[in-house]
Amino acid sequence: MSVHKDVKKITTHVLQEMKANGEKISMLTAYDFSLARIVDDAGIDVILVGDSASNVMAGHETTLPITLDQMIYHASSVIRAIDRALVVVDLPFGSYQGNSKSALDSAIRIMKESGAHAVKLEGGSEVIESISRILSAGIPVMGHLGLTPQSIYKFGTYTVRAKEEEEAKKLIEDAKLLEDKGCFAIVLEKIPAKLATRVAQEVSVPIIGIGAGSGVDGQVLVLHDMLGINNEFKPRFLRKYNNLYEQIKESISHYITDVRSKDFPNDKEQY
Ligand code: KIV
Repeated sequence: MSVHKDVKKITTHVLQEMKANGEKISMLTAYDFSLARIVDDAGIDVILVGDSASNVMAGHETTLPITLDQMIYHASSVIRAIDRALVVVDLPFGSYQGNSKSALDSAIRIMKESGAHAVKLEGGSEVIESISRILSAGIPVMGHLGLTPQSIYKFGTYTVRAKEEEEAKKLIEDAKLLEDKGCFAIVLEKIPAKLATRVAQEVSVPIIGIGAGSGVDGQVLVLHDMLGINNEFKPRFLRKYNNLYEQIKESISHYITDVRSKDFPNDKEQY
């Protein structure tokens, strides 16, 4: 029997039941009211207000510049749009590393000021104190391992992570640590499919993959990438479900032509 179909609101417990029942979890990003409404209405399980907003919405080259205030603005817009999905918000770079008290303060601001349901943050043992402190306040935490874009200047490239044994071993240890501490789910980004499958089998909490193959408990993509709004980003793991860049451009060109030719507005389109 399907766990999630009749559920009115997705909770962290529903996601755990879905994993136990072998039902795949669907997750997409959203950063604004209008698109979040469509994503929720389509029946997505989880909406991630990702710090990829830094790239997608603000045009920055990395996720590092986005601020806590900006994340709260995006998250509040999304929250106003949704009826059913679980909304998870990224803690931005600099808001949780190194100091567990400021990590807790950041997570509390997100929960209080946006109405979000959970936070996500990048890293394993290095940030475990911050994770524990946020969890101790009753705030659900989603982990994120593998390619962690906030560490791009350490990695130097956005290539596949954990191909070598040492990094793979640390990733498995980190996933188990996050599970032990009480994270309700973990995102694995851009790692070998075999490794991701092993983590999903050895860890009891849902594993959501992006570029991590099909052996995990769910999938996440950046909405603008899968809709083809951002037509420059073409990694191997991305499936494009539309080409909205071209479709939107065509509609706008059509509008410009109509205005210039005085075809718009016509007699029925005025008062
Ligand atoms: O910020 C984001 O969109 C993410 C996903 C790529 C998982 O963290």
